[in-house]
Amino acid sequence: MDNKWWKQAVIYQVYPRSFQDTNGDGIGDIPGIISRLDYLEDLGIDAIWLSPVYCSPQADNGYDISDYRDIDPIFGSLADMDRLIAEAKKHHIRIIMDLVLNHSSDEHFWFREALKGKENPYHDYYIWRDGVEGCPPNDLTSGFGGSLWEWVPELGQYYMHQFSKKQPDLNWENPKLRQELYDMINWWIDRGIEGFRLDVIDHIGKVPDDKVLVNGPHLHELIRELSASTFGKAGLVSVGEAWSATPETALLYSNPDGSELSMVFQFEHICLDQQPDGTKWDLMPLPLLKLKEVMNKWQTRLHEKGWNSLFWDNHDLPRIVSRWGNDSDEYRALSAKMLATLLHGMEGTPYIYQGEELGMTNTPFPSIDDYDDVETLNAYHVLKAKGWSEEKLMQAVHAKSRDNARTPMHWDDSAQAGFTTGTPWLPVNPNYTEINAASQVNDKDSVFSYYKQLIRLRKEIPVIVDGAFCLLLPDDEEVFAYHRKNDEQTLTVLCNFYGNERTIDASALIPEGSRLLLSNYTDAEDANVLRPYEARMYLK
Ligand code: GLC
Ligand code: CA
Repeated sequence: MDNKWWKQAVIYQVYPRSFQDTNGDGIGDIPGIISRLDYLEDLGIDAIWLSPVYCSPQADNGYDISDYRDIDPIFGSLADMDRLIAEAKKHHIRIIMDLVLNHSSDEHFWFREALKGKENPYHDYYIWRDGVEGCPPNDLTSGFGGSLWEWVPELGQYYMHQFSKKQPDLNWENPKLRQELYDMINWWIDRGIEGFRLDVIDHIGKVPDDKVLVNGPHLHELIRELSASTFGKAGLVSVGEAWSATPETALLYSNPDGSELSMVFQFEHICLDQQPDGTKWDLMPLPLLKLKEVMNKWQTRLHEKGWNSLFWDNHDLPRIVSRWGNDSDEYRALSAKMLATLLHGMEGTPYIYQGEELGMTNTPFPSIDDYDDVETLNAYHVLKAKGWSEEKLMQAVHAKSRDNARTPMHWDDSAQAGFTTGTPWLPVNPNYTEINAASQVNDKDSVFSYYKQLIRLRKEIPVIVDGAFCLLLPDDEEVFAYHRKNDEQTLTVLCNFYGNERTIDASALIPEGSRLLLSNYTDAEDANVLRPYEARMYLK
């Protein structure tokens, strides 16, 4: 076991728009994050992954960058960012920035120059194909609906965009472009940034003429060059977002020799509640046995040969307690704690998305007009054109819209949940009077306090960091149980995934001499019974 700090760390994702507003414009900002560092230090996290705060027209909430070397005025200034880095350090928190390297905004200087003509030096920073209007180079579609290609009449060319048309793809085959990106990353490293999350990194090696968007033939070569020129050279943590990752490719990405990245976000578990041949909008109940199989595969395949990231939530996903838990008043806290136990007992680096530590829930808005997210709005129109009924559409939106996780953070039970004194950019979930940080931080039985214990246990108990994973009861349709083992210790995690009471054979699952470390029920237990959503962790 090497002593890389991020192997014992828990990382907290801040979605700045929705975290804390300080100037009443309804949009969270960097001074707001600074004002909540005490809260984050109390929770015990080691680092913040900060979603993009760079200059951006906000067509995709900052994932469309128009200046990589400055802060968007809605979030603050470069001086605020420097202050955040310095203040976080005093709270023993590192700052991990989001790097969107697959595409820029169409309002970036490079793209505005590129539009001036084929001879412009910046033209080749993007991906163009000659053509005639109405005949795009191929029938590939963008991740947010519609064609992959956008026509520019003045040039007689199409440009490629894997996301919205305001996010033109950067041409990674151009060495000058790559060098500009590396210089920019090093500029942030010099300012004190201690790690990076790499947005859709599996897309950068695209070969659109061969209809290859992810996992291009030169992808890993490109990542190795990127790493060696920037964060890898500096020994910083890096996590790549890779929806296409398999255990095989993850072993390359997270090779312990450090040549690529520290770890990747893989999404195999996240896609289990959608129809196998469909998109995220084609809903299906979660098959628990499949979840066990997938988690088991990733845990065992990467052990000692790579490194996992562990997450249920982020700014693109619905809230886990509403998704695979039970967000009723009766079971919300119990099921949130159960899901946390299940994940935080595994091998890898856990990520907590803001509000997850409070058990925040989805926010189903009544009408599509209440939604802000570009992906949700585009999908709604594409699926409506395909003949989906309004009822089916809204059911899918309520289940999967990215706005579920993007409503403002619940700080207290005052107006707008203490997020803003103005009008929030996206409405606050009305349940903030019940679910909020102020009511949980000093309550030892709260979801917050439970997360705090899980974070502390990872720092105290070596087997949580390095133990080999061993799935128990693989065919049980309701109980998710596993061991983690090293030479000295055995951790046992038992989780009742549903609301039925279950009997188990405790003596067969829990090694003799184990002690109970943590449980989401406070009263005395009958070891052979798992109550609704009951979770227990034992150590021997
Ligand atoms: C990633 C981001 C998502 C964004 C997309 C395009 O998936 O997490 O929010 O829309 O990339 O940049
Ligand atoms: Ca603000």
